[in-house]
Amino acid sequence: MATMRPLDLLKVDHLFSDDELDIAAAVREFVDERVRPEIADWFEQGTVDLGLMKEAGALGLLGMHLTGYGCAGTNAVSYGLACLELEAGDSGVRSMVSVQGSLAMFAIWKFGSEEQKQTWLPKLCSGESLGCFGLTEPDTGSDAANLRTRATKTDSGWSISGQKMWISLGNFSEVVLIFAQTAPEKKHKGLACFLVPTASDGFTSQEIHGKLGLRSSDTAELSLDSVEVGEDAMLGEVGDGFKVAMSALDNGRYSVAAGCVGICEGCVEASVAYAKEREQFGVPLARFQLVQEMIADMILKRDASRMLVYRAGVLKDEGKPNTTETSVAKLYATESAVECANLAIQVHGGAGYVDDYPVERYLRDARVTTLYEGTSQIQKMIIGRAATGINAMTPL
Ligand code: CAA
Repeated sequence: MATMRPLDLLKVDHLFSDDELDIAAAVREFVDERVRPEIADWFEQGTVDLGLMKEAGALGLLGMHLTGYGCAGTNAVSYGLACLELEAGDSGVRSMVSVQGSLAMFAIWKFGSEEQKQTWLPKLCSGESLGCFGLTEPDTGSDAANLRTRATKTDSGWSISGQKMWISLGNFSEVVLIFAQTAPEKKHKGLACFLVPTASDGFTSQEIHGKLGLRSSDTAELSLDSVEVGEDAMLGEVGDGFKVAMSALDNGRYSVAAGCVGICEGCVEASVAYAKEREQFGVPLARFQLVQEMIADMILKRDASRMLVYRAGVLKDEGKPNTTETSVAKLYATESAVECANLAIQVHGGAGYVDDYPVERYLRDARVTTLYEGTSQIQKMIIGRAATGINAMTPL
């Protein structure tokens, strides 16, 4: 019996239109040609292939769910399928594509002035330029309103000083969205977001080494020492910063969740193939009920994740509130990706513990997804608050 490839599975779901499936097929072709043959080397050597971002731009993958300014203007469901296919090939590539499109470009597209959009979106869309999202700081992760980076008013604009941490694409971006506090006593209502060119005096970046996974993508620590920007660098108004960050994260979390369906799918594919090929006790591993149980568990997690991602995507396409549903999808799909990768290694036994098969890379890559763009614990707080109306984040 032939195994079903993911596109066949997507058809079986009867969730996706022919156009959406065509987009998934085109992204899969790109991944098969450009990513799969290279990924083992990129991962081992920690290579970031920036040419790939230009190719992704040419294919319309950067900010593909946005309209105008050169963006492809697909729906969110299609964007989710693209993230799935990218991540089934490599998490680092999906991360770069979604940080650029879901976080940096989306925030400019939604909150930027016409001039800011004209300046940045066409070149971010084509991949000629890269952009990143500077929210997290060394001392501020989950408590995103409590930023230490300060923006002080000057005669001609703003002076920004502070540190940013764990910033994907931070070493290669031309522009970074810097979230900074303008009036600490106002808490989240004092936050503002600035479009800071990384060539500005006082801006430096440094690569973060020693990551467990995401080896083919860039992660940086940023430092801003009295970086001067004009009034026109602010995205929206003073006080909009937190809303900009949270809206972008609603987008980013969706792309992370969608990508994790791809990891689950990769784990199923690799485990089914290995269980049929590897023999123990004179029969293929697939002959054993406990091995089939592990495969069934992975399929359950993959399919449930895909349904939850689809629901969040449909709500986005209908313009309906979707923060809670996005958090449900992000929580379930990311935890499922870690569990599937762990199970896939179990199916592979010792062979899964080394890099002869993709499953050890899946585990390394999946592990960050329950941390970045809001930990699983933060997603649970968002879901619990929506259900009860009680804010469990309120300080004692
Ligand atoms: N969209 C728009 N606005 C939103 C929103 C959303 N999804 N969520 C909240 N807001 C608004 C609220 O309406 C509220 O507005 P008003 O002041 O006008 O009433 C305001 O923001 C404050 O909201 P909350 O009271 O909900 O804020 P909070 O402090 O209680 O909690 C939180 C918020 C959910 C804990 C939030 O801080 C959070 O998500 N933390 C995690 C941060 C995170 O994900 N960090 C990762 C960053 S990126 C990264 O990983 C690096 C990378 O490069 C990929």
